[in-house]
Amino acid sequence: MSKKIVDLAIKRGVDLDSLPKHLAIIMDGNGRWAKTKGWQRLLGHREGYRALRSALLNADDLGIKYLTVYAFSAENWKRPAEEVAGLMKLIETAAREELKSMHKNNVRVNVSGRIDELPQGLQDALNHGMEVTANNTGIVFTLAVNYGGRAEIVDAVRDIVAAGFEPEDITEEIISAHLYNPQHPEPDLMIRTAGEMRWSNFLLWQGAYCELYVTEDPWPEFSGNHMIDAVLSFQTRTRKFGAVVE
Ligand code: IPE
Ligand code: IPE
Ligand code: MG
Repeated sequence: MSKKIVDLAIKRGVDLDSLPKHLAIIMDGNGRWAKTKGWQRLLGHREGYRALRSALLNADDLGIKYLTVYAFSAENWKRPAEEVAGLMKLIETAAREELKSMHKNNVRVNVSGRIDELPQGLQDALNHGMEVTANNTGIVFTLAVNYGGRAEIVDAVRDIVAAGFEPEDITEEIISAHLYNPQHPEPDLMIRTAGEMRWSNFLLWQGAYCELYVTEDPWPEFSGNHMIDAVLSFQTRTRKFGAVVE
C-alpha cells in the first residue's frame, strides 16, 4: 500500500534518498491559534496534540529516522499555573493514549529534559512508553519535556565533573557523549511554526549546524504539505560546515 504522504512528496519533487535524518520541531503558536478562534489557550494545545499525531505518522511514512519535538521548555513553568497543569495532563494523556498505536507502528519512544522534575503521573507514563517500545526499530520519537538547551549542557558538565575528567580530557566529543541522548545523530533540519525567528533554547549544542525552516502557520495547522515544504527547502541548501564548497 502506498502512503499518501509519500505520493505527495514524490509529486512535489522531494528526493526521498536525501531526507533529513533527524527532524526537530519547535511546535509553536498553539495559544495564538486558539485566540484567533476566541478559544482558551489550552484548546490550542489540544489541537496541537492532533497535529503532532499526524506529524509523527507523516515523518515515519516519509522515512525520517528521528523526530524530536519541543513539547514543554524548561522556561515554560513561567506560564500561568492553570496552563502548566493543563499541559502536564495533556502530555500524560497523549503519552498513554498513543502508546498502543505507536508500538504497533514500531515507534521507539524517548524523552529529553529534566524528566525527574515532572509530575509523577507524567513521569510514569513516559517511562512506561519507553519501556514498552525499547526494542522497536522504527522511527525514534523523542518528546522534549521540561527541556532546556542550557540546562542540558549544565547537566552534561555536572556528569563530566562527577566522573572525574581532567581539564585536558574535555573535548567536544566528551561533551556530546554526556548530553541526554548521545546515541542520536544531530538534527539536520529544525522546523519552527508560527513565524518566530528564534531558537528558544532548543537543542543548542546539537543544533549548531542544523538547517532552520520557519513557517508562519501555527502548529495546530501543520500538515503533510508543511512538512514537505520544509524538506524541499532543506534539499536546496548547501551545507558547508564552515568549509568552502565549490
Ligand atoms: C507552543 O505554543 C506550545 C508550548 C510552548 C507548550 P504556545 O503556547 O507557545 O503558543 P503561542 O506562542 O503563545 O501562540
Ligand atoms: C518554545 O516555544 C517552547 C515550545 C514550543 C515547547 P515558546 O513559545 O515557549 O518560546 P518563546 O517564549 O516564544 O521564545
Ligand atoms: Mg509560543
